[in-house]
Amino acid sequence: GYIIRAQQLLTMPQDAAELASYGDGGEERDNSIVGLIEDGCVVVDGEKIAWVGRWDERPAKVRRDGVDVFETAVAMPGWIDCHTHAVFAGERSREFAWRNAGKPYVEILEEGGGILNTVDAVREASGQALAEELIRRAFLSVRQGVTTLEVKSGYGLTTADEIKSLKAVQRAQKDVPCELVGCFLGAHAVPREYRERREAYVELVCEEMIPQVARGGYAAYCDVFCDRGAFSAEEAERILRCGQEHGMVARIHADEITDAGGALVAAKVGASSADHLEFVSQEGIEAMAEAGVVGVLMPAVNLFLGTIDHLAPARSLLDAGCEVALATDFNPGSAMTQDLGTILMLGCTLYKLTPGEALRSITAGAAKALRREDIGSIRAGARADVACFDVPHYRYLTYHFGQTHAEAVIYRGNFVYW
Ligand code: NIG
Ligand code: FE
Repeated sequence: GYIIRAQQLLTMPQDAAELASYGDGGEERDNSIVGLIEDGCVVVDGEKIAWVGRWDERPAKVRRDGVDVFETAVAMPGWIDCHTHAVFAGERSREFAWRNAGKPYVEILEEGGGILNTVDAVREASGQALAEELIRRAFLSVRQGVTTLEVKSGYGLTTADEIKSLKAVQRAQKDVPCELVGCFLGAHAVPREYRERREAYVELVCEEMIPQVARGGYAAYCDVFCDRGAFSAEEAERILRCGQEHGMVARIHADEITDAGGALVAAKVGASSADHLEFVSQEGIEAMAEAGVVGVLMPAVNLFLGTIDHLAPARSLLDAGCEVALATDFNPGSAMTQDLGTILMLGCTLYKLTPGEALRSITAGAAKALRREDIGSIRAGARADVACFDVPHYRYLTYHFGQTHAEAVIYRGNFVYW
Protein backbone atom coordinates (compact mmCIF):
# COMPACT_ATOMS: atom_id res chain seq x y z
CA GLY A 1 0.00 0.00 0.00
CA TYR A 2 0.84 3.70 -0.01
CA ILE A 3 -0.46 7.00 1.30
CA ILE A 4 -1.78 10.08 -0.45
CA ARG A 5 -1.24 13.23 1.62
CA ALA A 6 -3.25 16.22 0.41
CA GLN A 7 -3.33 19.80 1.63
CA GLN A 8 -7.04 19.65 0.82
CA LEU A 9 -8.74 16.28 0.71
CA LEU A 10 -12.31 16.30 -0.60
CA THR A 11 -14.10 13.15 0.54
CA MET A 12 -17.52 13.88 -1.00
CA PRO A 13 -19.82 12.26 1.58
CA GLN A 14 -22.58 10.33 -0.16
CA ASP A 15 -25.41 10.99 2.23
CA ALA A 16 -27.48 13.80 0.75
CA ALA A 17 -29.72 14.02 3.82
CA GLU A 18 -26.72 15.15 5.80
CA LEU A 19 -26.12 17.89 3.27
CA ALA A 20 -29.26 19.86 3.84
CA SER A 21 -28.46 20.45 7.50
CA TYR A 22 -25.08 22.04 6.89
CA GLY A 23 -23.74 25.51 7.01
CA ASP A 24 -24.31 29.07 6.00
CA GLY A 25 -24.64 28.74 2.21
CA GLY A 26 -21.17 30.14 1.65
CA GLU A 27 -17.65 28.77 1.88
CA GLU A 28 -18.38 26.94 5.09
CA ARG A 29 -21.26 25.06 3.52
CA ASP A 30 -19.11 24.30 0.50
CA ASN A 31 -16.39 22.87 2.73
CA SER A 32 -19.04 20.68 4.36
CA ILE A 33 -20.69 19.38 1.20
CA VAL A 34 -17.32 18.39 -0.27
CA GLY A 35 -16.28 16.82 3.03
CA LEU A 36 -13.10 18.87 3.24
CA ILE A 37 -10.24 17.56 5.37
CA GLU A 38 -7.27 19.94 5.65
CA ASP A 39 -3.96 18.06 5.52
CA GLY A 40 -5.81 14.86 4.72
CA CYS A 41 -4.52 11.36 4.30
CA VAL A 42 -5.76 8.43 2.23
CA VAL A 43 -4.31 4.98 2.86
CA VAL A 44 -4.54 2.82 -0.27
CA ASP A 45 -4.37 -0.94 0.02
CA GLY A 46 -4.53 -2.81 -3.28
CA GLU A 47 -7.53 -1.66 -5.31
CA LYS A 48 -9.31 -0.15 -2.32
CA ILE A 49 -9.14 2.68 0.13
CA ALA A 50 -8.25 1.35 3.57
CA TRP A 51 -8.36 4.48 5.70
CA VAL A 52 -9.25 8.19 5.35
CA GLY A 53 -8.66 10.99 7.83
CA ARG A 54 -6.30 13.68 9.01
CA TRP A 55 -2.59 13.23 8.37
CA ASP A 56 -1.70 13.62 12.02
CA GLU A 57 -4.22 10.93 12.95
CA ARG A 58 -3.03 8.34 10.45
CA PRO A 59 -2.92 4.79 11.77
CA ALA A 60 0.10 3.73 13.80
CA LYS A 61 0.71 0.82 11.46
CA VAL A 62 1.43 3.01 8.41
CA ARG A 63 3.74 5.19 10.51
CA ARG A 64 5.67 2.14 11.68
CA ASP A 65 5.90 0.45 8.30
CA GLY A 66 7.17 3.61 6.61
CA VAL A 67 4.98 3.27 3.48
CA ASP A 68 5.43 5.53 0.44
CA VAL A 69 3.76 8.92 0.61
CA PHE A 70 2.52 10.79 -2.46
CA GLU A 71 2.02 14.46 -1.67
CA THR A 72 -0.41 16.68 -3.55
CA ALA A 73 -2.32 19.93 -3.16
CA VAL A 74 -5.91 18.80 -3.76
CA ALA A 75 -7.11 15.19 -3.84
CA MET A 76 -10.66 14.10 -4.51
CA PRO A 77 -12.57 11.09 -5.86
CA GLY A 78 -11.77 10.28 -9.49
CA TRP A 79 -14.12 12.24 -11.74
CA ILE A 80 -17.12 10.51 -13.26
CA ASP A 81 -18.43 11.59 -16.66
CA CYS A 82 -21.83 9.96 -16.23
CA HIS A 83 -23.37 10.79 -19.63
CA THR A 84 -21.52 10.45 -22.93
CA HIS A 85 -22.07 9.08 -26.40
CA ALA A 86 -18.34 8.45 -26.81
CA VAL A 87 -18.62 5.38 -29.05
CA PHE A 88 -19.25 6.86 -32.47
CA ALA A 89 -17.68 7.16 -35.91
CA GLY A 90 -17.46 10.15 -38.24
CA GLU A 91 -18.13 13.78 -37.40
CA ARG A 92 -20.83 16.40 -38.07
CA SER A 93 -19.11 19.73 -38.50
CA ARG A 94 -21.34 20.45 -41.51
CA GLU A 95 -24.44 20.43 -39.29
CA PHE A 96 -22.64 22.62 -36.79
CA ALA A 97 -22.19 25.20 -39.55
CA TRP A 98 -25.83 24.80 -40.67
CA ARG A 99 -27.06 25.44 -37.16
CA ASN A 100 -24.97 28.54 -36.87
CA ALA A 101 -26.54 29.69 -40.14
CA GLY A 102 -29.95 29.36 -38.47
CA LYS A 103 -31.18 25.77 -38.83
CA PRO A 104 -32.31 24.28 -35.49
CA TYR A 105 -31.00 20.93 -34.20
CA VAL A 106 -34.46 19.39 -34.08
CA GLU A 107 -35.22 20.29 -37.72
CA ILE A 108 -32.03 18.63 -38.89
CA LEU A 109 -33.06 15.53 -36.93
CA GLU A 110 -36.64 15.54 -38.21
CA GLU A 111 -35.39 15.81 -41.81
CA GLY A 112 -33.45 12.58 -41.35
CA GLY A 113 -30.03 14.05 -40.54
CA GLY A 114 -28.44 14.63 -37.16
CA ILE A 115 -28.23 11.44 -35.13
CA LEU A 116 -29.12 9.46 -38.26
CA ASN A 117 -26.00 10.68 -40.05
CA THR A 118 -23.84 9.28 -37.26
CA VAL A 119 -25.90 6.08 -37.50
CA ASP A 120 -24.77 5.71 -41.12
CA ALA A 121 -21.13 6.09 -40.07
CA VAL A 122 -21.44 3.64 -37.17
CA ARG A 123 -23.17 1.00 -39.29
CA GLU A 124 -20.24 1.28 -41.73
CA ALA A 125 -17.58 1.04 -39.03
CA SER A 126 -16.15 -2.21 -37.68
CA GLY A 127 -16.37 -3.00 -33.99
CA GLN A 128 -12.59 -2.86 -33.88
CA ALA A 129 -12.52 0.65 -35.37
CA LEU A 130 -15.16 1.84 -32.89
CA ALA A 131 -13.16 0.41 -30.01
CA GLU A 132 -9.93 2.04 -31.18
CA GLU A 133 -11.53 5.49 -31.40
CA LEU A 134 -13.06 5.04 -27.97
CA ILE A 135 -9.71 4.06 -26.46
CA ARG A 136 -8.12 7.25 -27.77
CA ARG A 137 -10.97 9.31 -26.33
CA ALA A 138 -10.90 7.60 -22.96
CA PHE A 139 -7.23 8.51 -22.49
CA LEU A 140 -8.11 12.19 -23.03
CA SER A 141 -10.69 11.96 -20.26
CA VAL A 142 -8.33 10.18 -17.89
CA ARG A 143 -5.76 12.95 -18.22
CA GLN A 144 -8.27 15.38 -16.74
CA GLY A 145 -8.97 13.19 -13.72
CA VAL A 146 -11.76 10.95 -15.01
CA THR A 147 -11.74 7.38 -13.69
CA THR A 148 -15.26 6.37 -14.74
CA LEU A 149 -16.70 7.12 -18.16
CA GLU A 150 -20.26 6.23 -19.06
CA VAL A 151 -20.74 5.43 -22.76
CA LYS A 152 -24.07 5.06 -24.53
CA SER A 153 -24.87 3.14 -27.67
CA GLY A 154 -27.61 4.60 -29.86
CA TYR A 155 -25.92 5.13 -33.20
CA GLY A 156 -26.51 1.61 -34.44
CA LEU A 157 -30.30 1.30 -34.25
CA THR A 158 -30.32 -2.31 -35.42
CA THR A 159 -29.89 -5.15 -32.97
CA ALA A 160 -26.55 -6.09 -34.49
CA ASP A 161 -25.20 -2.55 -34.64
CA GLU A 162 -26.31 -1.66 -31.12
CA ILE A 163 -24.59 -4.79 -29.81
CA LYS A 164 -21.55 -4.04 -31.97
CA SER A 165 -21.27 -0.64 -30.25
CA LEU A 166 -21.70 -2.05 -26.74
CA LYS A 167 -19.20 -4.80 -27.46
CA ALA A 168 -16.76 -2.14 -28.67
CA VAL A 169 -17.09 -0.52 -25.24
CA GLN A 170 -16.26 -3.85 -23.59
CA ARG A 171 -13.37 -4.44 -25.95
CA ALA A 172 -12.00 -0.94 -25.27
CA GLN A 173 -12.21 -1.61 -21.53
CA LYS A 174 -9.26 -3.98 -21.74
CA ASP A 175 -7.01 -1.18 -23.00
CA VAL A 176 -7.99 1.87 -20.97
CA PRO A 177 -7.04 2.94 -17.43
CA CYS A 178 -10.56 3.92 -16.36
CA GLU A 179 -13.89 2.16 -16.04
CA LEU A 180 -16.19 2.28 -19.07
CA VAL A 181 -19.86 1.94 -18.14
CA GLY A 182 -21.99 0.81 -21.07
CA CYS A 183 -25.55 2.10 -21.45
CA PHE A 184 -28.05 0.83 -24.02
CA LEU A 185 -29.75 3.65 -25.95
CA GLY A 186 -31.44 1.75 -28.78
CA ALA A 187 -34.27 4.27 -28.53
CA HIS A 188 -32.10 7.23 -29.50
CA ALA A 189 -33.95 7.96 -32.75
CA VAL A 190 -36.35 6.18 -35.07
CA PRO A 191 -34.10 4.87 -37.88
CA ARG A 192 -34.96 5.90 -41.45
CA GLU A 193 -36.15 2.43 -42.44
CA TYR A 194 -38.79 2.60 -39.67
CA ARG A 195 -39.88 6.16 -40.33
CA GLU A 196 -43.39 5.22 -41.41
CA ARG A 197 -43.83 2.51 -38.77
CA ARG A 198 -42.35 3.72 -35.54
CA GLU A 199 -44.41 1.32 -33.39
CA ALA A 200 -42.58 -1.52 -35.11
CA TYR A 201 -39.26 0.03 -34.04
CA VAL A 202 -40.39 0.33 -30.41
CA GLU A 203 -41.46 -3.29 -30.68
CA LEU A 204 -38.00 -4.25 -31.97
CA VAL A 205 -36.31 -2.42 -29.09
CA CYS A 206 -38.49 -4.17 -26.52
CA GLU A 207 -38.83 -7.62 -28.00
CA GLU A 208 -35.40 -8.15 -29.49
CA MET A 209 -32.77 -5.58 -28.52
CA ILE A 210 -33.37 -5.35 -24.77
CA PRO A 211 -33.58 -9.11 -24.21
CA GLN A 212 -30.40 -9.70 -26.23
CA VAL A 213 -28.49 -6.85 -24.59
CA ALA A 214 -29.54 -8.07 -21.14
CA ARG A 215 -28.80 -11.72 -21.87
CA GLY A 216 -25.37 -10.91 -23.29
CA GLY A 217 -24.51 -8.65 -20.35
CA TYR A 218 -23.69 -5.81 -22.75
CA ALA A 219 -25.18 -3.02 -20.63
CA ALA A 220 -26.69 -2.62 -17.18
CA TYR A 221 -28.53 0.61 -18.05
CA CYS A 222 -31.35 1.38 -20.46
CA ASP A 223 -31.85 4.93 -21.74
CA VAL A 224 -34.39 6.58 -24.09
CA PHE A 225 -34.33 9.93 -25.88
CA CYS A 226 -37.78 11.24 -24.98
CA ASP A 227 -38.51 14.40 -26.95
CA ARG A 228 -39.95 15.95 -30.08
CA GLY A 229 -38.30 14.24 -33.06
CA ALA A 230 -37.49 11.16 -30.97
CA PHE A 231 -39.74 9.12 -28.62
CA SER A 232 -42.93 10.08 -26.78
CA ALA A 233 -43.46 9.78 -23.02
CA GLU A 234 -45.65 6.69 -23.56
CA GLU A 235 -43.04 5.03 -25.76
CA ALA A 236 -40.30 5.91 -23.30
CA GLU A 237 -42.21 4.45 -20.39
CA ARG A 238 -42.82 1.21 -22.23
CA ILE A 239 -39.15 0.86 -23.20
CA LEU A 240 -37.81 1.71 -19.74
CA ARG A 241 -40.18 -0.67 -18.00
CA CYS A 242 -39.14 -3.38 -20.41
CA GLY A 243 -35.48 -2.66 -19.60
CA GLN A 244 -36.27 -2.87 -15.88
CA GLU A 245 -38.00 -6.23 -16.37
CA HIS A 246 -34.69 -7.38 -17.81
CA GLY A 247 -32.79 -6.09 -14.79
CA MET A 248 -31.55 -2.84 -16.30
CA VAL A 249 -31.45 0.52 -14.49
CA ALA A 250 -33.59 3.14 -16.27
CA ARG A 251 -32.24 6.53 -17.35
CA ILE A 252 -33.79 9.05 -19.70
CA HIS A 253 -32.93 11.97 -21.98
CA ALA A 254 -35.72 14.23 -20.77
CA ASP A 255 -37.19 17.58 -21.76
CA GLU A 256 -34.18 18.80 -23.74
CA ILE A 257 -35.94 20.46 -26.67
CA THR A 258 -39.55 20.55 -25.44
CA ASP A 259 -41.42 19.64 -22.25
CA ALA A 260 -42.27 16.15 -23.45
CA GLY A 261 -42.98 14.80 -19.96
CA GLY A 262 -39.68 12.95 -19.65
CA ALA A 263 -39.01 13.95 -16.04
CA LEU A 264 -42.42 12.63 -15.04
CA VAL A 265 -41.68 9.33 -16.75
CA ALA A 266 -38.37 9.16 -14.88
CA ALA A 267 -40.16 9.60 -11.56
CA LYS A 268 -42.93 7.19 -12.48
CA VAL A 269 -40.66 4.30 -13.43
CA GLY A 270 -38.02 5.07 -10.77
CA ALA A 271 -35.18 6.00 -13.11
CA SER A 272 -31.79 6.67 -11.57
CA SER A 273 -31.49 9.90 -13.52
CA ALA A 274 -33.25 12.28 -15.88
CA ASP A 275 -30.79 14.05 -18.11
CA HIS A 276 -30.82 17.45 -19.92
CA LEU A 277 -34.01 19.02 -18.43
CA GLU A 278 -33.86 22.41 -20.21
CA PHE A 279 -37.67 22.41 -20.50
CA VAL A 280 -38.63 20.44 -17.39
CA SER A 281 -41.85 21.58 -15.69
CA GLN A 282 -42.09 22.46 -11.98
CA GLU A 283 -44.31 19.39 -11.64
CA GLY A 284 -41.54 17.32 -13.20
CA ILE A 285 -38.96 18.73 -10.77
CA GLU A 286 -41.11 17.91 -7.76
CA ALA A 287 -41.81 14.40 -9.00
CA MET A 288 -38.09 13.83 -9.51
CA ALA A 289 -37.27 15.01 -6.00
CA GLU A 290 -39.97 12.79 -4.54
CA ALA A 291 -38.69 9.74 -6.43
CA GLY A 292 -34.98 10.42 -5.79
CA VAL A 293 -34.16 10.90 -9.49
CA VAL A 294 -30.80 12.62 -10.07
CA GLY A 295 -30.87 15.56 -12.49
CA VAL A 296 -27.96 15.27 -14.95
CA LEU A 297 -27.19 18.65 -16.49
CA MET A 298 -25.01 19.19 -19.54
CA PRO A 299 -24.34 22.86 -20.19
CA ALA A 300 -21.96 22.21 -23.10
CA VAL A 301 -25.05 21.37 -25.14
CA ASN A 302 -26.47 24.84 -24.66
CA LEU A 303 -23.16 26.40 -25.49
CA PHE A 304 -22.72 24.23 -28.57
CA LEU A 305 -26.28 24.55 -29.89
CA GLY A 306 -26.33 28.26 -29.11
CA THR A 307 -29.23 27.90 -26.69
CA ILE A 308 -27.85 29.46 -23.52
CA ASP A 309 -31.06 31.49 -23.33
CA HIS A 310 -32.85 28.36 -22.18
CA LEU A 311 -30.97 26.54 -19.46
CA ALA A 312 -31.93 23.69 -17.18
CA PRO A 313 -33.23 25.05 -13.84
CA ALA A 314 -30.33 23.80 -11.74
CA ARG A 315 -31.14 25.85 -8.65
CA SER A 316 -34.78 24.79 -8.66
CA LEU A 317 -33.69 21.15 -8.81
CA LEU A 318 -31.32 21.63 -5.87
CA ASP A 319 -33.89 23.59 -3.88
CA ALA A 320 -36.45 20.84 -4.47
CA GLY A 321 -33.99 18.36 -2.95
CA CYS A 322 -32.67 16.67 -6.09
CA GLU A 323 -29.06 15.63 -6.32
CA VAL A 324 -27.51 17.17 -9.44
CA ALA A 325 -24.75 15.79 -11.65
CA LEU A 326 -22.88 17.61 -14.39
CA ALA A 327 -21.66 15.71 -17.45
CA THR A 328 -20.22 16.45 -20.88
CA ASP A 329 -22.81 14.64 -23.06
CA PHE A 330 -19.82 14.18 -25.39
CA ASN A 331 -21.30 13.42 -28.83
CA PRO A 332 -20.72 14.62 -32.41
CA GLY A 333 -24.08 16.40 -32.73
CA SER A 334 -24.84 18.47 -29.69
CA ALA A 335 -21.69 18.58 -27.54
CA MET A 336 -18.39 17.83 -29.25
CA THR A 337 -16.27 18.04 -26.12
CA GLN A 338 -14.77 15.78 -23.49
CA ASP A 339 -13.68 18.66 -21.32
CA LEU A 340 -15.26 18.05 -17.94
CA GLY A 341 -13.18 20.88 -16.44
CA THR A 342 -14.90 23.38 -18.69
CA ILE A 343 -18.24 21.84 -17.69
CA LEU A 344 -17.38 22.64 -14.05
CA MET A 345 -16.82 26.26 -14.98
CA LEU A 346 -20.07 26.40 -16.96
CA GLY A 347 -21.93 24.84 -14.04
CA CYS A 348 -20.84 27.81 -11.97
CA THR A 349 -21.37 30.57 -14.54
CA LEU A 350 -24.56 29.34 -16.21
CA TYR A 351 -26.28 27.45 -13.39
CA LYS A 352 -24.80 29.47 -10.54
CA LEU A 353 -23.60 26.38 -8.72
CA THR A 354 -21.09 26.96 -5.95
CA PRO A 355 -17.63 25.43 -6.48
CA GLY A 356 -18.50 22.71 -3.97
CA GLU A 357 -21.78 21.89 -5.67
CA ALA A 358 -20.06 21.67 -9.05
CA LEU A 359 -17.31 19.36 -7.77
CA ARG A 360 -19.83 17.18 -5.90
CA SER A 361 -21.83 16.89 -9.07
CA ILE A 362 -19.05 15.12 -11.01
CA THR A 363 -18.24 12.76 -8.15
CA ALA A 364 -20.89 11.90 -5.54
CA GLY A 365 -23.76 13.19 -7.72
CA ALA A 366 -22.60 11.32 -10.80
CA ALA A 367 -22.13 8.11 -8.78
CA LYS A 368 -25.72 8.41 -7.63
CA ALA A 369 -26.90 8.92 -11.22
CA LEU A 370 -25.24 5.57 -11.96
CA ARG A 371 -26.55 4.03 -8.70
CA ARG A 372 -23.01 3.21 -7.67
CA GLU A 373 -21.75 3.20 -4.11
CA ASP A 374 -18.18 2.04 -4.66
CA ILE A 375 -17.11 5.20 -6.51
CA GLY A 376 -17.62 8.97 -6.21
CA SER A 377 -16.56 9.25 -2.57
CA ILE A 378 -13.34 8.81 -0.65
CA ARG A 379 -14.06 6.51 2.24
CA ALA A 380 -12.77 3.23 3.62
CA GLY A 381 -13.89 0.35 1.42
CA ALA A 382 -14.44 2.43 -1.72
CA ARG A 383 -12.51 1.72 -4.88
CA ALA A 384 -9.21 3.60 -4.83
CA ASP A 385 -10.02 6.05 -7.64
CA VAL A 386 -8.40 9.36 -6.77
CA ALA A 387 -7.66 12.49 -8.79
CA CYS A 388 -4.86 14.75 -7.56
CA PHE A 389 -4.50 18.35 -8.66
CA ASP A 390 -1.77 20.94 -8.48
CA VAL A 391 -3.96 23.96 -7.70
CA PRO A 392 -3.99 26.56 -4.91
CA HIS A 393 -7.51 25.71 -3.68
CA TYR A 394 -10.21 23.24 -4.72
CA ARG A 395 -12.41 26.03 -6.02
CA TYR A 396 -9.63 26.87 -8.51
CA LEU A 397 -10.71 23.75 -10.48
CA THR A 398 -13.98 25.46 -11.39
CA TYR A 399 -12.25 28.70 -12.32
CA HIS A 400 -9.20 28.00 -14.48
CA PHE A 401 -10.83 26.22 -17.38
CA GLY A 402 -9.68 24.79 -20.68
CA GLN A 403 -6.70 22.74 -19.50
CA THR A 404 -6.08 19.85 -17.20
CA HIS A 405 -4.81 20.43 -13.67
CA ALA A 406 -4.40 16.76 -12.81
CA GLU A 407 -0.94 15.90 -11.56
CA ALA A 408 -1.83 12.29 -10.83
CA VAL A 409 -4.78 10.04 -11.55
CA ILE A 410 -5.18 6.85 -9.56
CA TYR A 411 -7.52 4.13 -10.80
CA ARG A 412 -8.10 0.98 -8.73
CA GLY A 413 -5.09 1.94 -6.65
CA ASN A 414 -2.74 2.29 -9.64
CA PHE A 415 -1.14 5.51 -10.83
CA VAL A 416 -2.45 5.59 -14.40
CA TYR A 417 -1.46 9.17 -15.20
CA TRP A 418 1.09 11.43 -13.53
O1 NIG B 1 -27.70 13.88 -25.63
N1 NIG B 1 -30.33 14.30 -27.20
C1 NIG B 1 -30.07 13.26 -27.74
N2 NIG B 1 -28.88 12.71 -27.95
C2 NIG B 1 -27.68 13.43 -27.89
C3 NIG B 1 -27.36 14.05 -29.17
C4 NIG B 1 -26.86 13.02 -30.07
C5 NIG B 1 -26.49 13.55 -31.41
O2 NIG B 1 -26.92 14.62 -31.88
O3 NIG B 1 -25.74 12.80 -32.04
C6 NIG B 1 -27.74 14.37 -26.74
O4 NIG B 1 -27.78 15.60 -26.91
FE1 FE C 1 -27.07 12.59 -24.45
